[in-house]
Amino acid sequence: MKLSIALLAGDGIGPEVIDQAVKVSDAVAKKFGHEITWKPALTGAAAIDAVGEPYPDSTHDICKNADAVLFGAIGHPKYDNDPSSKVRPEQGLLKMRKALGLFANIRPTFTFPSLIDKSPLKRERIEGTDLVILRELTGGIYFGEKGRRDGGETAYDNCVYTREEVKRLAKKGFELAMTRGKKLCCVDKANVLETSRLWRETVQAMEKDYPEVKVSYEFVDAVAMRLVQWPNSYDVLITENLFGDILTDEASVISGSMGLMPSASIGTENQLFEPIHGSYPQATGLNIANPMATVLSAAMMFEMAFDLQEEGAAIRKVVNKALAQGMVTEDLADGGKAFGTKEVGDWLAANI
Ligand code: IPM
Ligand code: MN
Repeated sequence: MKLSIALLAGDGIGPEVIDQAVKVSDAVAKKFGHEITWKPALTGAAAIDAVGEPYPDSTHDICKNADAVLFGAIGHPKYDNDPSSKVRPEQGLLKMRKALGLFANIRPTFTFPSLIDKSPLKRERIEGTDLVILRELTGGIYFGEKGRRDGGETAYDNCVYTREEVKRLAKKGFELAMTRGKKLCCVDKANVLETSRLWRETVQAMEKDYPEVKVSYEFVDAVAMRLVQWPNSYDVLITENLFGDILTDEASVISGSMGLMPSASIGTENQLFEPIHGSYPQATGLNIANPMATVLSAAMMFEMAFDLQEEGAAIRKVVNKALAQGMVTEDLADGGKAFGTKEVGDWLAANI
């Protein structure tokens, strides 16, 4: 198969972890007889520095025309503490999500048997955890009619959802649940918010089309609690943009390291794959960042964007092998030997 993949390394540790995912993907392609053409493009602070904006049209064209997008991370500390900054790397991410129509963000949380004791939660709480949070990604308070300040003293952000937006996300959730444990939890705050009541009403109306799926409705605050008490009780969770942002960070640490969790953002035409961690500026250039989340994002890309299941499985297998053998970066070394980002990537590619 010929695959054309847009490569957006971004900022901080982005380029380092992306390099490893490229190596591993190339090794998989070689083994299974595929030909990958990588199409590098600028994004984030790196793009602001080069051309003055975080998601330039040239990058959009490359993403639009590629079979998939592999994304590193964006964000740079020089923008974080400057609220007056007009242009910010994160705007690039939001613009890209909207422009590519990436309305569903899929963030799985699963455990690795060899790492179970690295989790901040007790083994018995997390054993068997295998859940997916489906976060709505192009609506809600992130994109409501422009946030504003009145006279400098009052600030507004608007949370807006249409029934159609809820429906298309929920449809993905029901479909995903059908391929897994057939349980769907709609996470909302319907006791307070009108948008949440629209979510609940819309999902309730869809239940009859998926009679095998057991649907529950839970408030976001309760879910935040249950996620750390009984994460293994969940299968698929669907939720709006901001709740999803918060809950996916919470869920990401259950496995023992945020450096392990991949994600996919899908839309009607384009699909993007990225680690859920950020740009980790303090580690930039130090060859210490864990590349596994990005490598596993490449596995999701093979499986979801190209329907190449064996190729994805080969990547997952080699990552598990590396974890079991201690071929890990410092975040997982636990006092033992820590390997560099590049060394872990080389090992994974060589062992595919
Ligand atoms: C994420 C990030 C982004 C978000 C930021 C960087 C805008 O936290 O992908 O979860 O809030 O969506
Ligand atoms: Mn986030």
